[in-house]
Amino acid sequence: MFVEEAQVNTFQQTTRPILILGGTGKTGRRIADQLSGQGLAVRIASRGGSPAFDWENRATWGRALEGAAAVYVSYYPDLAAPGAAATVGAFADLAVAMGVKRLVLLSGRGEPEAQRAEDMVKRAGADWTVLRCSWFMQNFSESFMLDAVLAGEVALPVGAVREPFIDADDIADAAVAAFTDDRHIGQLYELTGPRLLSFGDAVAEIAAASGRSVRFTEITATDFATGPAAEGLPPDLVALLMMLFTEVLDGRNEHVCAGVERALGRPARDFRDYARAAAASGVWGGAK
Ligand SMILES: NC(=O)c1ccc[n+]([C@@H]2O[C@H](COP(=O)([O-])OP(=O)(O)OC[C@H]3O[C@@H](n4cnc5c(N)ncnc54)[C@H](OP(=O)(O)O)[C@@H]3O)[C@@H](O)[C@H]2O)c1
Repeated sequence: MFVEEAQVNTFQQTTRPILILGGTGKTGRRIADQLSGQGLAVRIASRGGSPAFDWENRATWGRALEGAAAVYVSYYPDLAAPGAAATVGAFADLAVAMGVKRLVLLSGRGEPEAQRAEDMVKRAGADWTVLRCSWFMQNFSESFMLDAVLAGEVALPVGAVREPFIDADDIADAAVAAFTDDRHIGQLYELTGPRLLSFGDAVAEIAAASGRSVRFTEITATDFATGPAAEGLPPDLVALLMMLFTEVLDGRNEHVCAGVERALGRPARDFRDYARAAAASGVWGGAK
């Protein structure tokens, strides 16, 4: 825990921007807002940004990196995807060659490809911090499970396994700390929420907080791949979700970690508080 020690910030004096990859996404948007709010220069990177940044088009990487002092590295679609580590490694090497001094990586737990990407980032030669995160609570309100919540049934190929869902606001707070306090250099934080919940438990919390009738149903992987949850999603993304549900959610991550306390000196936010705040924001509509 860093609360007692003095804070030092290498980037306080720099006017060079911090590049936020996925800067319009769940974590990147929050990080960009906080850093800008602190008066730090931020450059948001995404396919629609200016200059545009696309993981699949290396010709776009250099312009996005020009003059950047530090980078928040959130990969798309997922660090667990085949080939992610090599791509992230190539990006980290280019970033360092172009003068980037600090890399903060958003990673996932229990995913061999993500752990290989962490090694690539650590080896690139910049100061680094790794945020190895559990499943985001915001997957239910800002991502692929929102439509299912609104439809009243979340049907997934996952059983009673429990996951310590993390609030994206906690991830953002840890990332901002990593950019603004040198004591986070060389730290790997395993960020989880404070409580293990099954997907059924999480949906029950959402139903209670929103006053809506929402239920959880366990389905087979085949039914998931051919059902409404996968409708409209690219086949690669469906395959990735299947892998996450059937391989990574096998119990290997069924434990809570103290990463939020270590990084921020305070407890992680609980799912119930997330669900209440999300319900109050109106994202799940009114009671139904
Ligand atoms: N969700 C979870 O539960 C979870 C848990 C642990 C780790 N993670 C990690 O979180 C990362 C995703 O972060 P997030 O959830 O904050 O983002 P997100 O909400 O999924 O948003 C994706 C961001 O990436 C951009 N993007 C999409 N396609 C891109 C491309 N081809 N090239 C460059 N940018 C692209 C999007 O903007 P544009 O569409 O405008 O390009 C957007 O800013 C993944 O690497 C995943 O492994 C997720």
